[in-house]
Amino acid sequence: MLWTILVVLSVVVLLVLLFLRLTKSNRFLALIWNVYIHERLLDLMTGLSRPQRILKAVQKNAKKGDPQSVIAAIDHYCRHKEWAMNVGDDKGLILDSVVMEVNPSSALELGTYCGYSTVRIARLLPAGSTLITVEFNPHCAVIARQIIAYAGLQDKVKLMEGPSGDLIPKIKEQFGITSFDFVFLDHWKDRYVPDTKLLEECGLLRKGSVLLADNVICPGAPEYLEYVRNNPRYETRYFPSNLEYTKVEDGLEKSVFLG
Ligand SMILES: C[S@@+](CC[C@H](N)C(=O)[O-])C[C@H]1O[C@@H](n2cnc3c(N)ncnc32)[C@H](O)[C@@H]1O
Repeated sequence: MLWTILVVLSVVVLLVLLFLRLTKSNRFLALIWNVYIHERLLDLMTGLSRPQRILKAVQKNAKKGDPQSVIAAIDHYCRHKEWAMNVGDDKGLILDSVVMEVNPSSALELGTYCGYSTVRIARLLPAGSTLITVEFNPHCAVIARQIIAYAGLQDKVKLMEGPSGDLIPKIKEQFGITSFDFVFLDHWKDRYVPDTKLLEECGLLRKGSVLLADNVICPGAPEYLEYVRNNPRYETRYFPSNLEYTKVEDGLEKSVFLG
């Protein structure tokens, strides 16, 4: 009887270890573990949400007014303690290089979450530039505001709270912006195509505006890739990388609007 229990326990432990190992390289298991299991377990154990735990890591480990230390604190926490859906350090370098190349005076981000990519983009903007970031989850918006302020970037960033489809048509009137030089798409993937079309219809894209879309492979945005890759109005290029904090394949699509 004791032997049977020991064998069953060993098999269970081995299966759990195998599952955890596969979450590092298999896209479906990675998402199931990180998004549906691990987060809920830690929520129960800590009594805090994942965004609140990320904010705590920033307050504990980053220096106030130092965006680079805020980015480093979040990356360290999410690599070693708990995965989170920030663009992350690997793809973050690609994001940085595109932002530096465009040097935008007006930028839009769709999907703020905790403000990680907001801080990444805003720290590179030239003086006098504005980044508008859009988030519909009020809890994330509260945390993001605190992280952006902790990085000292609150004057460069305007956070709009609500669904992108409702807010995009209000941007021109609300902020007096004629068009965006740079747009980072990183909200729910089924909104990439409708919101790109909305940006076109609202005249928020000019000849030369650069769109950068995250997660085009994992979880994936096939309709968006189909849209920009088969459209004479866009010149488009894929940048391969990994899903944040994993070895799972993911990448960014950079698309220049040709007018
Ligand atoms: C992948 S996370 C953003 C990560 C963030 N860009 C970063 O790299 O740090 C996606 C976020 O988009 C928000 N979101 C999804 N669909 C949205 C929509 N239609 N309008 C506004 N926010 C949306 C979600 O609530 C979530 O916080």
